[in-house]
Amino acid sequence: MTPRAADAPQKTPTQPRAAAGARAAFAPGKVILLGEHAVVYGVPALAGALAAGVRVKPAPGAPTLCVPAWGLAVDPAEAPPLARAYRAILEALAIERPPCGFEVEFELPTGAGLGSSAALSVALVRALGPACGRSLERADELRAAMAAESVFHGRASGIDHAVAAHGGFGRFTRKDGFQPLPAPRPIRLVVGHTGRARDTQGRVMRVAEIERERPDETRLRFAAIGALVERAERAIGSGDLDELGAAMNENQRELEALEVSCPEIEALCREARGAGALGAKLTGGGGGGCVIALAPDREEAVLAAWRGAGHEAFVTAVGAGA
Ligand code: MEV
Repeated sequence: MTPRAADAPQKTPTQPRAAAGARAAFAPGKVILLGEHAVVYGVPALAGALAAGVRVKPAPGAPTLCVPAWGLAVDPAEAPPLARAYRAILEALAIERPPCGFEVEFELPTGAGLGSSAALSVALVRALGPACGRSLERADELRAAMAAESVFHGRASGIDHAVAAHGGFGRFTRKDGFQPLPAPRPIRLVVGHTGRARDTQGRVMRVAEIERERPDETRLRFAAIGALVERAERAIGSGDLDELGAAMNENQRELEALEVSCPEIEALCREARGAGALGAKLTGGGGGGCVIALAPDREEAVLAAWRGAGHEAFVTAVGAGA
């Protein structure tokens, strides 16, 4: 006798379920105070975490990574860079298929040189661990986020996701990673957006070309940037903001010579100095993105100059107790 349909064992369709401990995760964005680009060639850089960053929360259903701000929802098997970065993270963590999806929320401008992609990668790793019932260490975060950063930016030094993973303020080298630095007081910075997207991958490739074309000159520039980083570190230690500002201005000149600046960045630097900033320079990949200005007692004037010229701008602080 064949059972009637109603008597047959019922198969209820099951949605993939995240582990019970699944929860939202956060990682901060960053500013590079001095040393970007040269850091790819082993020179130290100074960088700090922003209060704002990226949140990744688990979402029921298929293992899609959804970024509403970019109008994107990708499966790890797909081809766009976001999907490849997601896949790179899963492969680095030996996760075959996550038990749920993830949704990304940015608290900072993206494509601006403020480390949003690295913060996304680190926050995603932090969300994946509990969702998959895995306990992940800082080393796992760094390794998996580095795999994603290589997809987003090509030849990456690792500074962006090191700051996103560690937080705080410190010195980064490729060799020694992120070393927290004591900054006696928070370093306040005005951040202004050029309105043009940063071009990290393109600018990193251009520096590599220049290094091949003019190796001696370029190595001297990297060494000069290294010396500026040391000078800035001493200035921070002794609270000498004039000296820190001067080092930032010189670093900007070296970055211009390395062809990673652009007219919009240089206009923001001029406006900031005109409004009384001690130092102003691009931060991050360059070619667009953001400019940072050190302007104690003149922050409102810098904000007004930038906003008056139509740029988004805000004040932030990195370092001690920021
Ligand atoms: C990007 O935030 C910093 C660069 O030095 C690239 C890198 O270090 O990976 C331009």
